[in-house]
Amino acid sequence: MLIYYSDIGDLNSMCGIVGYTGFRPVVDILLDGLEQLEYRGYDSSGIAVKRESDIKVYKAIGKLVNLREEMKKHSGEFEKSTTGIGHIRWATHGAPTVLNAHPHTCNHGNLVLVHNGIIENYKELKAMLEKEGCIFKSQTDTEVVAHFIAKKYDEVKDLTKAVRLATKEIEGAYALCVMHNDYKNTIVATKRNAPLLVGFGEGEFLIASDVPAIIKYTKKAMYLSDNQIVTVTPDSIKLIDKDGVELPQKVELLPWEPVALSKMGYKHFMLKEIHEQPDVIRNNLVGKLHTASEPIVLNEVKLTKDHLKKLNRIQIIACGTSLHAAMVGKYLIETFCGIPVDVEASSEYIYRRTTTDSHTLVIGVSQSGETADTLTAIKQAKSKGSHILIITNRPDSSMAREADSLISVNAGIEVSVAATKSYIAQLMAFYLLSLYMAEIKESLDVSVIQSIKNELMLIPQKIEQILASTDEIQKCARKYSGTKDFIYIARGINLPTALEGALKLKEISYINATGYAAGELKHGPIAMLDDTLPVLSILMKGTVYEKLLSNSEEAKARNARMIALTNSLDPKLDDLFECIIRVPDVQEFLSPIIAVIPLQLIAYYIAEFLGKDVDQPRNLAKSVTVE
Ligand code: G6P
Repeated sequence: MLIYYSDIGDLNSMCGIVGYTGFRPVVDILLDGLEQLEYRGYDSSGIAVKRESDIKVYKAIGKLVNLREEMKKHSGEFEKSTTGIGHIRWATHGAPTVLNAHPHTCNHGNLVLVHNGIIENYKELKAMLEKEGCIFKSQTDTEVVAHFIAKKYDEVKDLTKAVRLATKEIEGAYALCVMHNDYKNTIVATKRNAPLLVGFGEGEFLIASDVPAIIKYTKKAMYLSDNQIVTVTPDSIKLIDKDGVELPQKVELLPWEPVALSKMGYKHFMLKEIHEQPDVIRNNLVGKLHTASEPIVLNEVKLTKDHLKKLNRIQIIACGTSLHAAMVGKYLIETFCGIPVDVEASSEYIYRRTTTDSHTLVIGVSQSGETADTLTAIKQAKSKGSHILIITNRPDSSMAREADSLISVNAGIEVSVAATKSYIAQLMAFYLLSLYMAEIKESLDVSVIQSIKNELMLIPQKIEQILASTDEIQKCARKYSGTKDFIYIARGINLPTALEGALKLKEISYINATGYAAGELKHGPIAMLDDTLPVLSILMKGTVYEKLLSNSEEAKARNARMIALTNSLDPKLDDLFECIIRVPDVQEFLSPIIAVIPLQLIAYYIAEFLGKDVDQPRNLAKSVTVE
């Protein structure tokens, strides 16, 4: 199949970057750093090292282990090198080939760089550079930047200035690390709409797109702001703005401990993270929910009581799993507080006229705090005067820095690409937030609030009960693992649970799983049903239980293979469903927390049974920093 690269824009847009200059052998540091980023899902990698008289580039496709092997073949070539840059690539378009992998160089190989982002005007720049004789080796937008900075360098003979002048004319998003052969041990780095930080060591500096890549070496770091340019050597650092004016450096202490990414005896990180969920809930309740009769403490919310009472609208924006947490949040806030809530995928929110103003609270939900679509949406809403509340697992992320109010969800680092514990943590943030607002607005009966709080405190034990006996879930997973399609149905507060269950299954098993509002089944999807198709009904007791039971009957009448996930002991379910997964009893408002656990496990066991790469599913990345 032919892919016309020149027509599809960016090919290297969402990547991990590491740079180092100091006194240690650089290759190990770069490989270590890249490894710390690799869990997020990548398809090729590369390293450039400064040597005595040249810069040498090494690349490999596939996982980082391939680059390690490649480096081994060349050991001896870079023993004395103490300055270099590295990159892992996640291809958005186009093949992950060695030629497309970073670092990229200019024609004479003197200038080399790594890039994370999208160069929007790369076609225009490329046409101009080609006219001037540049020869392009790859199909990437990044290579354009290498040639373009090299061209500026030839004019001004100053690397920092060349980067500054070139980036003035570059449109789009980027984080860049650049080296030049004329400089013994210098890295110039800059960014716009992509994360980049500089770690400060003793006689050394590290540059990276994310904290895990540097935390082993230093906790002192400076986050670059857009259009700032930093130039580092082992013993010097200079920060300037886009006009070349020197800026003070704001060094902060990263609130991180180096964590060994250990599976703790579990076969996969995903399974370990599923098992961590009871503790994640406990962590999130500490200091916020004391007893049922005491009000929720949520000092993170910086809206005044008056402002909270006057809020007439809330918008929640998020992507992927976070979007499903947002949908549960909508249900809770509307029901508990009576405030209208819109939930929208960030990628949809940003390209239309949104009626957001200072009376609207805009909530951004993001595990990583870096998802480009959500970040853009947040910035857009902020510019219209809305109060921005961010719910994230990364209090040091780009989104957190945009926040007026910040709820940090304390899920701990999530390694598996498929989100599990971060979802549960986001749900907890919404329970606490909606109850907190309801208490201030006095919009919900005190006895209802107290019963929810009482049960919230018991939820971790109920999840532990599910995790302690997964036989039925495993049996069910095995039984349906051969299916090509899978349908999840639910209604009300568990519709997001159905969507999330389906998302988990497709992410890690590649089975075509879809979640539907059960009432919608008869308006189209029912046409697909036959005796080959599993339909999982999330049948939690409450307002829509009987309705969902009828919808399940309708599906059964079309011979679908019916599965129930339920907290009901109703014996008539035995006739309707060929497989029943029972969960501990729980009131309807809290049922999404309980119901999602077996769905995570079903997805996990099916993928594991099928021998899929559970923690790093194909084509996915943990942190999507491209729109
Ligand atoms: C990626 C991940 C998903 C995640 C989504 C949103 O697509 O693979 O697991 O739900 O991004 O990420 P965020 O960090 O904003 O929650």
